[in-house]
Amino acid sequence: MGSVFGKRYNVTQDTKELKELHEMSGSWQSGVNQDILGKLQRELDDVVGSRNITDVDIANLSYLQVVVKEALRVHPPSALLSGPRLSTSDVQLSNAMLIPSNTTAMVNMWHITHDPKVWEEPLVFKPERFVESDGGTNVDVRGSDLRLAPFGASWRVCPTKNLRLVTVNLWVAKLVQNIKWVADQGHPIDFREVLKLSCEMKHPLIAQETSRNIVASSRLHNFVVALAT
Ligand code: HEM
Repeated sequence: MGSVFGKRYNVTQDTKELKELHEMSGSWQSGVNQDILGKLQRELDDVVGSRNITDVDIANLSYLQVVVKEALRVHPPSALLSGPRLSTSDVQLSNAMLIPSNTTAMVNMWHITHDPKVWEEPLVFKPERFVESDGGTNVDVRGSDLRLAPFGASWRVCPTKNLRLVTVNLWVAKLVQNIKWVADQGHPIDFREVLKLSCEMKHPLIAQETSRNIVASSRLHNFVVALAT
């Protein structure tokens, strides 16, 4: 394969680089992060409670939004963006690199979103990195900041990016609002990925789910608030 922005990888054979990619993608902690899940559930209980969540609620769910942002960083579905580009003239990059005319190039978004020069502890799933009040940076994922552009950027940016962002937020919110998730002891969660048309989990996720008693927990929460005031 030709040059790849972010880092050069020869993926046509089992190279050192490919092993490095596999090791990086396999070294995440397995299991369900109950701290993050609990924080997200508390936000959903506080803001939405037991009623059906809708797309209008997303704007008020700031922790949900940073969890989705972090998921798009750690697991960008379009790891190499859409496909190869061909330069029609010489292009001088700001880092002095020259891309000669007639070069086939691909943007390796996966590498950029895992680059330790760009992200602190890039393999750690840490939504707080986007929360300004926690010392993080509010990064826009819709293409204006190339550190995290899971929908691409500029002329070829995904035309459905705004709708998709709301949809993904809504699905995650519904899955977390109504269901309690725990790892299945017989099937440890394997975060390794495989690049097909998009970047997918190498092995499908198997987890145990039980219904959350939202009504009961929300009543309990109101009771606690009433006691405290
Ligand atoms: C979370 C889900 C999605 C992600 C992360 C995503 C990401 C992307 C990316 C990275 C590109 C290429 C941008 C580039 O080449 O620079 C792209 C292009 C595109 N996407 Fe999406 N996409 C998503 C969902 C969808 C869906 C559901 C549709 C259609 C219903 C869609 C329609 C398109 C189209 C038509 C293009 C080509 C735009 C062009 O080349 O001019 N995308 N998307």
